[in-house]
Amino acid sequence: MSQQLHIVILAAGEGTRMKSHLPKVLHRIGGRPMITHLLETAGELEPEAVHVVIGSGAEEVRKACGEREVNWVLQAERKGTGHAVMQAMPDIPDEATVMVLLGDHPLIPLSVLQDMKAQASAPLAILTMELDKPKGYGRIERDRTGRIASIIEDKDATPAQWAIKEVNTGIIMAHARELRRWLGMLDCDNRKNEYYLTDIFAMAHSEGLEIRSVLAPDPRDLQGANDRRQLAALEQRYRHQSAVRLMKEGVQLMDPDRIDIRGKVEAGADVVIDINVVLEGTVRLGDGVALGPGVVIKDCKLAAGTRVHAHSVLEGVETTGACDIGPFARLRQGTELAEGSRVGNFVEVKNSRLGAGSKASHLSYIGDSTVGERVNIGAGTITCNYDGANKHKTQIGDDVFIGSGTELVAPVTIGEGATIGAGSTITKNAPPGELTVSRSRQATIRGWKKPKKGVPESSDGED
Ligand code: UD1
Ligand code: CA
Repeated sequence: MSQQLHIVILAAGEGTRMKSHLPKVLHRIGGRPMITHLLETAGELEPEAVHVVIGSGAEEVRKACGEREVNWVLQAERKGTGHAVMQAMPDIPDEATVMVLLGDHPLIPLSVLQDMKAQASAPLAILTMELDKPKGYGRIERDRTGRIASIIEDKDATPAQWAIKEVNTGIIMAHARELRRWLGMLDCDNRKNEYYLTDIFAMAHSEGLEIRSVLAPDPRDLQGANDRRQLAALEQRYRHQSAVRLMKEGVQLMDPDRIDIRGKVEAGADVVIDINVVLEGTVRLGDGVALGPGVVIKDCKLAAGTRVHAHSVLEGVETTGACDIGPFARLRQGTELAEGSRVGNFVEVKNSRLGAGSKASHLSYIGDSTVGERVNIGAGTITCNYDGANKHKTQIGDDVFIGSGTELVAPVTIGEGATIGAGSTITKNAPPGELTVSRSRQATIRGWKKPKKGVPESSDGED
């Protein structure tokens, strides 16, 4: 069948049951609007065009979808799913096959849509699922020969029909010419006073046309998000799917139920991820990367062999070789760590580069700095990069040793091979190869008496 596929996504609903100011399809699953998940899966089918019907919060929805190639269709008044599809029909040629998806069902697997696409030779096809609790869904009514005779919406069903467990997932495919004709015959003579898309099934049946159905293998992937509870259930499902995908790629998850993936994760071989790790945005993990418990990683690229220990938080970090991070490290935007470097506990790094083999093992702040190779930054070292108005740079050459408790007041340069004495406040450039120290002299007050409890400081009789 060489018919063009046109996909229509219905997304004009307000999502009243979410009790939110946000349009329903902009609620997030895995850290991004649910409509973007659907657009991505739809795109994989390589359709001729994707039409998205929007209404409530139209501008916001458009913006959230960014630069994607979408034909936006406005449904000014919400009059039902049939009416919504009608709005897209002027942009669809008669020869096309139309696949309708619902914007509030974001986790539909590609394989299921491909099964549907394979039915394109039939004038009408539907994806159904079986539910133990079918409440809320349109029920599939079949005739004595097993053909689909009609779809009865939950609100219009009789108690006998309520018992039907096969329901409409909302995914429907039809030849455009027929669909256009059927849509023209819809009325809103029902409990919701809406034009139901699902009424076209009774029409096709009475015309004796072939209606194909595909039964979804796992109804959990096809659930809708009508309220916060369902949204949370979808999030959980998404988490599970992402975990399974990572494990298939060769990642070892210490507990697939205790990982949160809210973005795109690419992982090499033998990556090990401990419990309660959160991965957000675009994350790339090289071979053998190890993430300890409670690690949070957003938009990072970690080279093979990098180890991130417990409770470290990384955002916008790149490691270019195997290095060692944490526990309890905070690495912010623009941090770059080279092979063999180490950032230890309670160290914060921002917009800085650490050269190969350099170490800041304890309690430091390194901001707007360039650190050479094999540098040792002692505990409690602080780059004072901010003068209250502007940020300044600190440059540290190769093989520098910075004693503990040093303050480097930027802009400042520490020359190659220099040593800075512990406790120094460095305000001027330090020359290469020399010891620089700025520290007040130590003094001892001989014979000084410790104050005693309850004895006034001057007890010599005077008031
Ligand atoms: C719909 C189906 C039902 C199916 C269920 C699956 C109809 C009449 N019913 O019911 O058979 O089992 O989905 O979840 O089709 N929308 C618009 N414009 C409108 C009305 C709806 O764009 O005028 C959009 C909504 O934003 C939503 C989707 O269509 O994304 C479905 O609408 P909704 O009202 O949620 O339909 P259901 O009652 O759930
Ligand atoms: Ca719905």
